[in-house]
Amino acid sequence: MPLTAIVLAAGEGTRMKSRHPKVMHKLLDRPLVGWTVDCARRAGCDRIIVVVGHGAQEVRDYMGTFDDVEFVEQPQQLGTGHAVRCVFDALYSGSNPLNIQGNFIVLYGDSPLVRPQTISWLATTSAARKDSCTVLTMTPPDPTGYGRIYSEDGQVKAIIEHKDCTAAQQEALRECNSGIYCFEGTALAEGITQLSNNNAQGEYYLTDMIAWLNSRGSAVSAVHCEEYTELLGVNSRVQLASANKIMQQRINQQHMEQGVTMLDPATVWIGPDVIIGQDTEILPHTLIFGHTTVGTDCVLGPNTRLINAKVGNNCLVDETIIVDSTIDNHVTCGPRAYLRGGTHLKDGAKAGTHVELKNSVVGKGSKVPHLSYLGDTTMGSGVNIGGGSITCNYDGVHKNKTTIGNNAFIGSDTMMVAPVHIGEGAVTGASSCIYEDVPAGALGIERSPQVIKEGYAAARQQRLEKGNK
Ligand code: UD1
Ligand code: CA
Repeated sequence: MPLTAIVLAAGEGTRMKSRHPKVMHKLLDRPLVGWTVDCARRAGCDRIIVVVGHGAQEVRDYMGTFDDVEFVEQPQQLGTGHAVRCVFDALYSGSNPLNIQGNFIVLYGDSPLVRPQTISWLATTSAARKDSCTVLTMTPPDPTGYGRIYSEDGQVKAIIEHKDCTAAQQEALRECNSGIYCFEGTALAEGITQLSNNNAQGEYYLTDMIAWLNSRGSAVSAVHCEEYTELLGVNSRVQLASANKIMQQRINQQHMEQGVTMLDPATVWIGPDVIIGQDTEILPHTLIFGHTTVGTDCVLGPNTRLINAKVGNNCLVDETIIVDSTIDNHVTCGPRAYLRGGTHLKDGAKAGTHVELKNSVVGKGSKVPHLSYLGDTTMGSGVNIGGGSITCNYDGVHKNKTTIGNNAFIGSDTMMVAPVHIGEGAVTGASSCIYEDVPAGALGIERSPQVIKEGYAAARQQRLEKGNK
């Protein structure tokens, strides 16, 4: 039996106070809707349909990177029931509801914390019970805003939205609707056309499916998720911050269980696609996002940011930013290095203090220890770049390349005006502006002669004091 996921992501999310659709707000480095879709995929759903509406283009642009997702447009946001109806109108119109195959998992795009295991558990339980609908429920300490579960003898009779509850119901009914359900396809297809919008918000509520199923004697039950934090909905920025905190703790705990040390996990932020090897230690205020992989026995941080970085084994990355770049094994970075896109530090290389590297290769054992900027540079192994040296790689129009051969020695404060080549084993004199190639083994020096003026300082002092009188 096929399992289809319908992800509702058309709402505006007024409470976010945002120009972007709610589901595009990020939990760690991934939009909310991305989490829900990823969860449906991991739970084994065969087909994933995302309902878009408010800010549809923004959601489509992001989701378009996944080729296993289909979109249905909900032109007007008339409620969660209407959103599901749009799916059946668009994809199953003309089909006899009785021919609709398999079960449907409905998830809301604003509930990013749910685990795939919970969804597959809901799906298998629902199939085993032969329910027309199984509702995933929770009992949060504060049920404000959630629909309440009204059940008798294990049969869920109705879900009553918070705003439609009487004061007594708000007090008495503590079990809440998570917004995740498993529906039997034919029952959903039929019932979804029967909903009305006669309620406090004037919306077509998906939750009214429950009462409709009861009216025709169908089985509806609940599965209760003990860990209510999995099912928290994000409706405001405050809830988004809480959800971020929960996901941060969950991810950090997984890494620690796999052998990663964290001195202060509360200040370490790691995205969902990051891989970190054993015995790596992460110091406070470190953020690791994107498709970053880190090897074993590294020390990262404090104050470090890695985005789409590839870090080998035994690296030291201290107060450093690495973006879209690779460092191999036994590499040292920082404090305060900035490795920008396309940089590659090979084994044993070093990018030291206040060093910025962009689109550059630093060969094996080569060192850029202090206060340098190298852009569009390829250097061999065993090179030493003296403090303060920079490449002048940009002429205002073109980015030009600098190449430095093995074992070259670049004197402090060398300007390398690209395009320029410094040969193997060559030396440049400190403070030289090198604008022509330096052959292998040669010295390139560009420096005006030094002048000595004996007794200058005292004479100057006298001159200045006279001037004051
Ligand atoms: C909903 C449930 C409530 C449940 C809670 C769990 C209904 C009527 N209520 O309330 O029982 O406890 O979630 O978090 O279902 N959406 C659309 N189109 C629309 C309206 C909403 O796609 O026309 C999407 C939103 O983008 C959002 C999701 O559906 O992702 C839920 O909508 P929201 O308005 O946040 O519902 P809640 O009031 O939170
Ligand atoms: Ca919600």
